[in-house]
Amino acid sequence: MNDALQTTVAGLRFANPVLLASGTAGYGRELAGIVDLESLGGLVTKAVSVEPRHGNAAPRVWDFDGGMINAVGLANPGVEAVRADALPWIAAHLKQPRVLVNVVGRVLEDYAEVVAGLDAAAGVDGFELNVSCPNTKKGGLEFGADADALRALVTRARAATNRALFVKLSPSLPDVVATARAAVESGATGVTLFNTMPGLIVDVEARAPVLGFGSGGVSSPALLPVAALAVHRVTRALPGVPVIGAGGVSTANHALQLIIAGASLVALGAASMADPRTAERVVRDLACWCEQHGVRSLDDVRGTLTWPSS
Ligand SMILES: Cc1cc2nc3c(=O)[nH]c(=O)nc-3n(C[C@H](O)[C@H](O)[C@H](O)COP(=O)(O)O)c2cc1C
Repeated sequence: MNDALQTTVAGLRFANPVLLASGTAGYGRELAGIVDLESLGGLVTKAVSVEPRHGNAAPRVWDFDGGMINAVGLANPGVEAVRADALPWIAAHLKQPRVLVNVVGRVLEDYAEVVAGLDAAAGVDGFELNVSCPNTKKGGLEFGADADALRALVTRARAATNRALFVKLSPSLPDVVATARAAVESGATGVTLFNTMPGLIVDVEARAPVLGFGSGGVSSPALLPVAALAVHRVTRALPGVPVIGAGGVSTANHALQLIIAGASLVALGAASMADPRTAERVVRDLACWCEQHGVRSLDDVRGTLTWPSS
């Protein structure tokens, strides 16, 4: 473990700021033997809903020149199976990485029901409320885009847990600072910026979407500057509120951009699907960067962005 990378967020000690983003790490077990999970700061589980979900029709993922698009559709075994099966594996096998459970719902009451159902389970350090999924017919983006719905949803979820509670927002929001403020005022510990960007890829011959669901969520290196600006704005507007930065991260340089912009933690999605070892590499390269720059703690670097004066 490298002391320079350690950080404490929402009262939880993370060995380093590198997480696997929701939907790209299963419930940890799926990656055991492929990724050294103990070398990571943590992981965010695949979404958990009240009921089991089968997800969307294939194709669910598609590569394109600028990245990938997915419409997996939040396939998951449901809260009961996650409590009985997935979380006991996490509790028994993961020592160091922190685990946030990603939560989705069709109606806003569902979120609190999932949180209440998992709150007492061993292996859970906190929750990430997904109010930004572009790939569902119901219970996706609309909760994050409607301030009243978001307040009601977060208030209920907060009443169900004392644990860390992150709200995951969409890059398509018109005013990310206002939405983040609404989430925090309703009891969220912090926010995750961002989920994928809603998008469409057209099969020109079929004159139809390539994805079975139609539209999907775009992961792309181009999301990195979008996330960096939002992280900067939100952390300046809401000092002390932890932000998990996500979007296009595949190198230590990318992670550092988000950390310097103000992110407490950084999550890798598509890049770690393309190469599951990417996150381990980012941790190693962050440690090298700190050593090369005489940085004793990444906390000294976090949020140190200086904006041009002119
Ligand atoms: C295949 C796939 C599945 C995903 N599933 C979820 C999910 O279940 N819940 C969620 O909040 N985000 C989900 N995401 C979004 C990622 O967690 C992440 O926020 C997003 O992909 C941006 O990061 P990236 O550019 O590094 O991929 C998924 C992303 C991908 C690529």
